[in-house]
Amino acid sequence: MEDLSPRPGDLEPIETASVDELRGLQLERLRWSVRHAYENVPHYRASFDAAGVHPDDVKTLEDLARLPFTTKADLRENYPFEMFAVPREQVVRVHASSGTTGRPTVVGYTRDDLDMWAGVVARSIRAAGGRAGHVLHNAYGYGLFTGGLGAHAGAERLGCTVVPVSGGMTERQVQLIADFRPDIITVTPSYMLSIVDEMERQGIDPRSTSLKVGIFGAEPWTNDMRREMERRLDMHAVDIYGLSEVIGPGVASECVETKDGLTVWEDHFYPEVVDPITMQPVPDGEEGELVFTSLTKQAMPVIRYRTRDLTRLLPGTARTMRRIEKITGRTDDMMILRGVNLFPTQIEELVLQLPALSPHFQCVLSRSGNLDELTVLVEHREGTAADTAAEAGAQLKRLVKNKIGVSVGVEVVPPDTVERSMGKMRRIVDNRPKR
Ligand code: DLL
Repeated sequence: MEDLSPRPGDLEPIETASVDELRGLQLERLRWSVRHAYENVPHYRASFDAAGVHPDDVKTLEDLARLPFTTKADLRENYPFEMFAVPREQVVRVHASSGTTGRPTVVGYTRDDLDMWAGVVARSIRAAGGRAGHVLHNAYGYGLFTGGLGAHAGAERLGCTVVPVSGGMTERQVQLIADFRPDIITVTPSYMLSIVDEMERQGIDPRSTSLKVGIFGAEPWTNDMRREMERRLDMHAVDIYGLSEVIGPGVASECVETKDGLTVWEDHFYPEVVDPITMQPVPDGEEGELVFTSLTKQAMPVIRYRTRDLTRLLPGTARTMRRIEKITGRTDDMMILRGVNLFPTQIEELVLQLPALSPHFQCVLSRSGNLDELTVLVEHREGTAADTAAEAGAQLKRLVKNKIGVSVGVEVVPPDTVERSMGKMRRIVDNRPKR
């Protein structure tokens, strides 16, 4: 794999500023953002007043912990545009997250917000090893989802030649990769797997393509999946994180020279990790729920937005800014089996330890009597003999029992039978009767 580490002069000054300088900038911006939200969004005025706090109380970064949290429910209640802090005429773009139930959540951007967003995505692509002049194949979905247009604008800002493919039509994705010879692909990790399978189906060796780096995000994936991708594709696989409510992709991103978690672009998004039960901030290094406060966003500032994503804050390495560890999962995706908590990412790690199994799997929840049961539906790799596949299934069952401490069912199925995604993969299929 090519060395894509940044060269001297590549980085923005703030990426390597001193911690003191960064904290100073954050405090100044935080005070602006909190006041902007309070003065212009009735929801924030009401929630601050109810908690007995005022923007003037924010004198240090620690004072942020005195402010109330914001949740997805708050955004839903203010559907569609009531969370906007500027007149609607100044909002030049909206996006929305589908949401599995009820109303979608709507987010808005001013021209300056779009400019900032393109800037952080450009920074993310550069951190991943992208450069001006690279060809970038963008397979994130275009539309209300922030992935497609977000990655697109950042890649243009960096000076890449963007191929705006969007998700779907997998055969054509492979054709375009062969013909346009992209250096970079931006796509969800689960859809990347479908593209690799299609390359193999067409007789193309995935290791022989022009791709140098894949920038994968929008759903959890593990370091074991990174090894799988890097082995099969002979390219760097790096992680990009974000959520619509905070901006979209580009809230945090991995640096190709370290691949040790995602640097949070802290000059625009202030991270906290809180204990999901007590809701108190935990010290850096401890796991909990990630919470973000936007520092520069105009159209829709968010104050202490609860992401529901679980991770830890770690000190900076390749940059001054702190990192988050790869996301374990969302609190909503936590399965509880006979008192044991588990996430699809834990299953992914174990599946990838068994060479006869492919990374295409789903967690199927059912109920027998009063007990929840989990069956892991997993494909064996192409060309695996039936008894080898069955033995791998039995091994997976033992691994889950030994490593996670709970009994699950495992069903090994032939290639191409587990549902495929063109964007975010549905890892959990919940067949439990509604109570
Ligand atoms: O998924 C934005 C995005 C697009 C990020 C493209 C990266 C690449 P939403 O649709 O609002 O926005 O979903 C946000 O997706 O709270 C996480 O649960 C999950 N997520 C996003 N990136 C990652 C990641 C986009 N790298 C929700 N690892 C977030 C794990 C991720 N989970």
